[in-house]
This record gives sequence, C-alpha cells and structure tokens, in this order.
Amino acid sequence: MQHNILVIGGTGKTGSHVVKGFNQLGHNVRIGGRNSSPAFDWEDPSTYRPALKGMDRAYIVYYPDLAVPGAKSAIANLAEAALKEGLEKVVLLSGKGETEAEACEQIIANSGLNYTLVRASWFNQNFSEGAFVDYILAGHMALPMEDAKIPYTDTKDIADMVIKALLDDTLNGKTLTVTGPKKLTFEEVAGIISQKLGRTIQYQPISMDEFKASLVEAGLPESHIWLLEYLFTEVLGHSENQTISNDVEEVLNRKPVSFEAYVEKTVASGVWNQSVPQSI
Ligand SMILES: NC(=O)c1ccc[n+]([C@@H]2O[C@H](COP(=O)([O-])OP(=O)(O)OC[C@H]3O[C@@H](n4cnc5c(N)ncnc54)[C@H](OP(=O)(O)O)[C@@H]3O)[C@@H](O)[C@H]2O)c1
Repeated sequence: MQHNILVIGGTGKTGSHVVKGFNQLGHNVRIGGRNSSPAFDWEDPSTYRPALKGMDRAYIVYYPDLAVPGAKSAIANLAEAALKEGLEKVVLLSGKGETEAEACEQIIANSGLNYTLVRASWFNQNFSEGAFVDYILAGHMALPMEDAKIPYTDTKDIADMVIKALLDDTLNGKTLTVTGPKKLTFEEVAGIISQKLGRTIQYQPISMDEFKASLVEAGLPESHIWLLEYLFTEVLGHSENQTISNDVEEVLNRKPVSFEAYVEKTVASGVWNQSVPQSI
C-alpha cells in the first residue's frame, strides 16, 4: 500500500535517509522544512496543519532538541494538528537518556494518535555533519566528560528503524532504542578517526567550565550553550544512559553499523579533508 508521508526534518541527518528510503519504496513523500512547499516551521504553529494536510503518516524530528523550552508546546500543537488532519500514525525521534525529551514522548503517547517512539543515542554523524565536525577538521578535540562511554549510533540505522516503525503497525505503542554496537570514549573516537584518516586528531580532556568558555569564545548563542551543557551533563553524566540496545538487530534482522565502518565511509567521502575552520 502506498502512503503519503510527511518527513519533518527531511533535509537533516536522519530525515534525509528516511526520505530516500520511502522514495525507493514508492511512497509519496513530503519534506516538512522551512524551505518546503508548503513550508513547515516549528517556530510557527500556523504552518503545522498545511504541512500535514493530505498526509497519512509522519516522521517527527524536532529541532534543535526535545529538551529545550518550547519543545513541549510545539509537540502538543503538532499532535493536535495531526489528529485534526486525520493522520494514522506518527514516529517521534527522541534522545536516549534525556529526561526532558521523555515529557515530549508522553505528549505523543497520550495524544490519541498511533505512534512509535524511536530513542536514539548520540549520532556517529555528529563528527561529520554536526556539532563536532570542526574539531575533526582542526585535528584537536577539546571536550569534557572524558570517562563517558557513548554507544554512538548511525543515522542510517535510525532511518531504517523509523521506516520500519512507520510502516509496521505491530510496532504501534512501542519504544525502540537505537544504539551502536560498542561504547566509546572521546579519546577512543579520536584514535579510530586518526588511524583511518591517517592524520592525528588529538583529544584533550577539559572541564565543563572550560568547555562553556570555548563555546562563548566561538560565538555560540546562550541557548545553544545551555543545550550542549544539558546534553553533556544529563545524557553523558549518568552511566546508566550509556547502555547498548539490541533493538536494531531485533527489528531489522541485521547488525547495527559499527563506528569503524562509519569512519571508513566518511574518510572515503572526503568531508574531513576540507580546510581547517578559523573559529577553533
Ligand atoms: N545529534 C544527535 O546526536 C542526536 C541524538 C539523539 C537525538 N537527536 C535528536 O535529533 C533531532 C535533530 O537533531 P540534529 O541536530 O541531528 O538535526 P538534523 O536532523 O540534522 O537537522 C536539522 C533539521 O531540522 C530542520 N529545522 C531546523 N530548524 C527548523 C525549524 N525552525 N522548523 C522546521 N525545521 C527546522 C532542518 O530543516 P530545514 O533547514 O530544511 O528547515 C533540518 O532538516 C533533535 O530532536 C535531537 O534531539 C539528536
């Protein structure tokens, strides 16, 4: 059966894979983004219903993070709009180990919509498409929480889980946890990337205060600095958050992508060979 599927964040790290996957399967896909037509903007609830109109399923990626103030009301407004537009099912991307995000998960769970929650660990792609890429380009990664071991997950695995969840109604009401197969410290990450890239990426452990000072110096807005501090302390600060899940194998019948495989693919893509940014 062919579905009409709205992919909010369809130009982003997981959403772009979800769009590609649904297109390959022959579904009708609409990207929900600020430059789409109709435009979808989290900051403007009047854009929610036009984007949802005519759709029967939706993948929801909130930006920047379900933990930020304002996320709960945006998610509640979106759920209400989705009910009014008669959507059959939604899948919400959430963050593993984020207490604040769980409040948004509950809003979706209690909305009356059919849903699946996909809770993801930190993405591999943060080192190539996200917040940490400049550290790799600069060859110097100064970050706090040196002891934290993170089961990084690949955006392709998340996208495959999202596609399966949106199409398979036996997963309704379930929470799928998506992690990679191994937990890594920042030092181990730097070591793997250095080895496969053939260039040294040095890891320097720093305190949270030093980290925040470096973000201020780099000119990041206060709200972004607050979010990074929250993610580093709340998600990485509790070792019970950093557990490995078997859900990828159980749902997709295949192994999750390893960090090493991600690094090899990224080295081949050339994104780590761009010039070094001036801000670090
Ligand atoms: N990164 C991680 O490690 C991680 C881990 C777990 C969970 N998550 C969750 O993943 C989600 C996405 O995070 P990400 O940083 O990786 O971003 P992302 O999905 O790579 O990209 C950002 C997307 O958000 C869209 N966007 C930005 N501002 C928007 C707005 N005002 N209205 C509508 N769309 C907007 C952009 O679309 P346009 O530019 O086309 O509008 C783009 O598609 C967050 O909810 C986060 O909590 C991330």
